[in-house]
Amino acid sequence: MLGESSHCEIRRGLPADATALSEVFRASWSNAYLGIIPHLHLDSMIRRRTPDWWGTTIRSGGELLVLQVSDIVAGYATMGAARTRGTYEGEIYELYVSPTYQGIGFGERLFEACRYHLDGRQLCGLIVWALADNATASDFYWRRGGRPVGMAFERFGRTKLKKIAFAWD
Ligand SMILES: CC(C)(COP(=O)(O)OP(=O)(O)OC[C@H]1O[C@@H](n2cnc3c(N)ncnc32)[C@H](O)[C@@H]1OP(=O)(O)O)[C@@H](O)C(=O)NCCC(=O)NCCS
Repeated sequence: MLGESSHCEIRRGLPADATALSEVFRASWSNAYLGIIPHLHLDSMIRRRTPDWWGTTIRSGGELLVLQVSDIVAGYATMGAARTRGTYEGEIYELYVSPTYQGIGFGERLFEACRYHLDGRQLCGLIVWALADNATASDFYWRRGGRPVGMAFERFGRTKLKKIAFAWD
């Protein structure tokens, strides 16, 4: 149970976080995308994110922030230069909080830490992509001041899902 004494820290990911991140990924992606991304695809995306995958990503210098609540890894975010060249130089690639820890302010703190990190890299402007069906994410970015600036489609087998780009100047 989370209480006033729960200590929250946002820090760089370490190789020792690999197993916990694999579990956070499984829990948060299943919860966010069940019924949106076809099960077969979601399942294979989750199976690919093994502790080894996370360990390699961390050791190769991937920009990864970890949300730690007391001694539990409760979320993560990855970020860096925007994948598409344009007006917005910084991008949050992934921002996920474990279901148990959602809705109590941790996502906001992780988001602010990402912005701080990207500012430190002098990347101006921010873009984040979210699936249109993921209303929680769209609402979250809208309430943080992000506005839709583009859209695209991503295919999962025969299913085509719409993605929305939210941006901040
Ligand atoms: C989207 C996501 C990252 C948001 O994280 P979160 O921890 O649930 O969000 P927060 O709790 O910080 O913010 C949600 C609301 O709770 C409010 N809140 C509730 N209790 C709070 C508390 N004790 N302290 C501060 N804020 C609190 C926040 O103010 C915020 O309200 P607002 O958006 O109207 O300002 C998270 O829900 C998630 O991981 N979802 C699934 C994955 C996902 O969709 N990721 C994005 C993919 S692009």
